[in-house]
Amino acid sequence: MTNGRVAVVTGASSGIGRAVTSTFAQQGIHVLAAGRDRDRLAAVQSELADGPGAVLPFAGDLTHPAHTEELLAAAEREWGPASIFVASAGRGLPGTVLGSDPDRWQELIEVNYLALLRQLRAAAAEFKRQAEADGGQRARDIVVIGSTVGRQVSAANPVYGSTKFAAHALVEALRQEVCTHNIRVTLIEPGFVRSGFQEAAGYDMAWFEAVADASGPLLTPENVASVVEFVVSRPTHVHLDDIRLRPTRQTV
Ligand SMILES: NC(=O)c1ccc[n+]([C@@H]2O[C@H](COP(=O)([O-])OP(=O)(O)OC[C@H]3O[C@@H](n4cnc5c(N)ncnc54)[C@H](OP(=O)(O)O)[C@@H]3O)[C@@H](O)[C@H]2O)c1
Repeated sequence: MTNGRVAVVTGASSGIGRAVTSTFAQQGIHVLAAGRDRDRLAAVQSELADGPGAVLPFAGDLTHPAHTEELLAAAEREWGPASIFVASAGRGLPGTVLGSDPDRWQELIEVNYLALLRQLRAAAAEFKRQAEADGGQRARDIVVIGSTVGRQVSAANPVYGSTKFAAHALVEALRQEVCTHNIRVTLIEPGFVRSGFQEAAGYDMAWFEAVADASGPLLTPENVASVVEFVVSRPTHVHLDDIRLRPTRQTV
């Protein structure tokens, strides 16, 4: 079902995107692995050199407007048109409305909202073009990593959470816009995942470890990746469009 498909995965240099890249490559999916950190992308490629899916690193910043088109074009040059797009790139921001750092709001919104909107538009336009050209009988997948705080308001994390609420709204709207072309736009909503996310966001790591003690074991990026792989490997007429997964002991 998935063998030989071509995927673009953003955020592939770390955490969930990296685990999705690995899981896909092990299933024979070729992956254009996107991120900003060249060295970490190169490490992902060499780690997965034995395939069966191939990995091609592509470094760049998703806040640059035409970057997603570049990713899709690079994948097509290497293996032919992509039929899977996973939007995992994103960042966190600790703090409340009063307590978060306002100097970091813009960067957060650019990465988690505007860059996501551009990814969705570019991937959906490409997949719709392909479907119109070939009759659209087979599934094409766009998978977005949202968050539990994009479904349930978190008093502790409203600034980051509101970017995820916006992401969730875009996913369902786009799903309705393109589903008749057999394009499945899927939302994955993880709870706490141990990854590079906490440090990149600047979380208080003592607080985070206390949360991990209380709610853990936390999810691993591989736990999330296995769900993504399950979604994209369903038959064309089956769409698991919105999946929330949390550590079993996470209360909120
Ligand atoms: N970890 C959690 O607890 C958790 C829970 C729910 C949802 N999520 C969501 O899951 C997604 C993945 O997070 P993660 O846990 O895997 O975090 P991570 O380990 O920090 O990975 C984040 C990835 O996003 C990339 N990225 C960030 N800004 C970028 C930009 N401007 N341009 C291109 N790439 C950029 C990073 O690339 P470079 O490092 O190469 O810059 C990195 O590959 C995010 O959308 C996050 O909001 C995470």
